[in-house]
Amino acid sequence: MKPQILSRAVQLLPALLCLVDAAPASVRRDDSSSNPGLRGSEALVGYSPTEKVATGAKPDIKYTLLPGQKEDPDIGSYLDFENVENPQPIRGTTGSDDPGPRNYYYDRINSDKLAPPGTDHGATINAQWPMGLSHNRLGIDNAGWARQENTVVMPDATEMAGVDMRLEPSAYRELHWHVASEWSLILNGSCRIQAINENGETFIDDLQAGDVWFFPPGIPHSIQALDDGVEFLLVFDQGDFSEDNTFLATEVFLHSPKEVLAKNLGVSVSAFDDIPDDELYIFKGTPAPADIEEQNVTTSAGLVPRSESYSYHFSEQPAHEVAGGSVKIVDPLTFPVASNFSAAVVTVNPGGMREIHWHPTSDEWTFFIKGQGRATLFTAPNAATTFDYRAGDVGYFPKSNSHYIENTGDEELMFLEVLQAPQFTDMALGQWIASTPKQIVKDTLNLSDSTLSQLKTEKQYVVAGTTSD
Ligand SMILES: *[C@@H]1O[C@H](CO)[C@@H](O)[C@H](O)[C@H]1NC(C)=O
Ligand SMILES: *[C@@H]1O[C@H](CO)[C@@H](O)[C@H](O)[C@H]1NC(C)=O
Ligand SMILES: *[C@@H]1O[C@H](CO)[C@@H](O)[C@H](O)[C@H]1NC(C)=O
Ligand SMILES: *[C@@H]1O[C@H](CO)[C@@H](O)[C@H](O)[C@H]1NC(C)=O
Repeated sequence: MKPQILSRAVQLLPALLCLVDAAPASVRRDDSSSNPGLRGSEALVGYSPTEKVATGAKPDIKYTLLPGQKEDPDIGSYLDFENVENPQPIRGTTGSDDPGPRNYYYDRINSDKLAPPGTDHGATINAQWPMGLSHNRLGIDNAGWARQENTVVMPDATEMAGVDMRLEPSAYRELHWHVASEWSLILNGSCRIQAINENGETFIDDLQAGDVWFFPPGIPHSIQALDDGVEFLLVFDQGDFSEDNTFLATEVFLHSPKEVLAKNLGVSVSAFDDIPDDELYIFKGTPAPADIEEQNVTTSAGLVPRSESYSYHFSEQPAHEVAGGSVKIVDPLTFPVASNFSAAVVTVNPGGMREIHWHPTSDEWTFFIKGQGRATLFTAPNAATTFDYRAGDVGYFPKSNSHYIENTGDEELMFLEVLQAPQFTDMALGQWIASTPKQIVKDTLNLSDSTLSQLKTEKQYVVAGTTSD
């Protein structure tokens, strides 16, 4: 850009902003007379016969295209821009170079956004939220933190919301309850959880990374990290759930008259002189006794029956190996108390892919635990968007909308799929097409006999593949 054009643009910008700001009322006059340089001359408005836009040659932007960028865009190979100096929004004969402004950090890890496959089309929902863009809530005394995804940041993720939470050794997530159901997968470390139900039955258990817990609405519970600290993922069955709006023990005491508390608990009013004067939420506590029996409190009702237990030792369940990785499922068939939470932990080897599938009755809330992958969300009649995910990202696929998750890295990809359903189920594109009479498929898709004879009638879950490099 020639200097005079640039300076004209710079001069015009405040004037334009001022006009927008003032519309439709008449232009407001402020005290800018004391700062005369703030605005340009009124002579800059509109066409001027004396000022010509000077165009030079197109800037010579230096870049190299990856092999996949030279293919037919419909092939849609993954473009690994992570170490590409100046990645460009180009696939085959589509797109063009980008002189900026741009954020190279986003472009390098979101190549399917910068240069989408030719098969992407129209507009789907946004199916991605990186927890790294969620505001973090830091606990007091370095006790931990929590960041959440809900409809505030993903408006279309209406059926489920999630929280990633960290507790330092001995730190607590304060005693509380909430209106939503809470399902959790421990990501790191270990913790002790305890609760009591409506029947007065009590529950306590120690859990480690890979284990799952569930608390129904209104069941008060606490979580305390053991010696190694803990990080866990919470999934709620309400998309607009907010971790900031739970019923906390401190708050229920702070907002009940002390006279009422004293009468209720049969103690003196002065018993409440030293209760905390604000919520604690995440805070350091005294270490839990190593022997869990020291904290095994029972009422005359006894324990929560085993069939209704709030924990499932999912870490002990071996993964089911398939061609491209592994799958393991926990749903109400084996963990009945979590009546509408069905989940799968999936691993995908480098080059492999969770096959194209959809969930007939429920939206899917996904959390990426390890590695990186991409997914195309297909929404009827013809919208498709491809998203790139990394560990710490949330994905969301509405019910019956098909999607796959392809490992785009050179390490194992691991993620969690959570459904609101009494059983984990999916429809697989491969099995559907392979088990439909060949004549019907041929009449519809014009696939060759040799292609049709290679299709597999069994569900694959995760298919194997080779990495591009
Ligand atoms: C927990 O995190 C630490 C630090 O990143 C890591 O060394 C350890 O392997 C993790 N444990 C699990 C079970 O993922
Ligand atoms: C707690 O005590 C009950 C008996 O009162 C026992 O059945 C149970 O195994 C104990 N431990 C735990 C962790 O519930
Ligand atoms: C399970 O979740 C689905 C989807 O949100 C909902 O339609 C259904 O009513 C739920 N079922 C139960 C028993 O809560
Ligand atoms: C089906 O594919 C063959 C080539 O394999 C082509 O000649 C034919 O025109 C196609 N039919 C339709 C209806 O597109």
